[in-house]
Amino acid sequence: KNIATQDPNRCPAVIRFGYLKVPTWFSAQFPQEPDAEKLIFCEYCLQYTQCKSVMESHMRKCNWTKPPGTEIYRNGSLSVYEVDGNIDKIYCDTLCRIGKLFLNDKTVEYGVEKFRFYIMTKNDGFGNHLVGYFSKKKQRQGNFNVSCIIVMPQYQRKGYGRLLIEFSKRKLHEPTNLSSCLNKYHVLLIFSGYLLSIVEKQPGTPETPLTVLGQKSYNSYWKSVILEYLAKYTSCDPIHIKDIIRTTGLMEQDIINTLNSLNFFVEVFKKTTICIDWNVVDAHMQSKKLSERVQIEREKLNWTP
Ligand code: ACO
Ligand code: ZN
Repeated sequence: KNIATQDPNRCPAVIRFGYLKVPTWFSAQFPQEPDAEKLIFCEYCLQYTQCKSVMESHMRKCNWTKPPGTEIYRNGSLSVYEVDGNIDKIYCDTLCRIGKLFLNDKTVEYGVEKFRFYIMTKNDGFGNHLVGYFSKKKQRQGNFNVSCIIVMPQYQRKGYGRLLIEFSKRKLHEPTNLSSCLNKYHVLLIFSGYLLSIVEKQPGTPETPLTVLGQKSYNSYWKSVILEYLAKYTSCDPIHIKDIIRTTGLMEQDIINTLNSLNFFVEVFKKTTICIDWNVVDAHMQSKKLSERVQIEREKLNWTP
């Protein structure tokens, strides 16, 4: 069942993005073309206009084929770029406004300088097409590790949202330079299959409130992280939530809610105990094997430009 919603009075109602016509879901302000019913974007540099001929002439001149910033991940035709909101201000500002077209949230922050943007693209012979992005505050506040996450509608429901969530847990952009960061990942990878928790030692969670779609995506992501943790659990010792936190990098409350939704809590002699239904774990691992969704390949995280 599709749970996405749309505001019938939104503006612009539709955008042209590259060669695709994409109906929007909610309104957003585009200062250079206020109140335009329809906007046409250069899918690479994100310049926009309501006038077809203006865009045609832009496309003849524009030499962008990918987002600005640094490519920090590549696997086959998929890339992730890290873009500093303070450097590529106009690009990031427009990106946020495009994101707002799919966010039923009136309080989207446009102060892009304080954020880094991680932009996922699907690459073909013509260029690197925008799949989606997430933003992170440069100054981490509390346990929040993601401010906003968006997948363009034409790429939704294929697993890219989950991929962005998984990617967002990496400790991206530390004060050290990028190549030494990547080396660190590489070394850590050799020591452990559990990249996420070790790279991001501090457990993290997205900024709230989540949208209905955001909540659904996170619930489903947390469920699979925990079930996959359990599938690898071979010890006979009792399972403690703090071990799950340490290994997965999820927050305690998110783990508790997920175990609860899986009905893994039972009352034994008036004490709440984790009791795992291993059939649920096995069924999850089986369906993951058959799934055609895109998966992040951890060994590709040490990709160097
Ligand atoms: N209706 C019902 N279920 C859906 C829908 C939909 N329209 N879209 C995704 N889902 C489900 C998927 O079935 C999947 O669940 P499952 O694993 O149980 O099968 C789960 O959500 C994740 O699916 P993905 O394919 O990985 O996610 P997707 O690429 O579609 O992206 C996202 C998810 C980013 C939330 C996307 O829907 C989106 O951009 N929505 C608009 C913006 C938004 O609400 N962002 C989240 C804001 S909250 C925050 O940023 C912290
Ligand atoms: Zn352009």
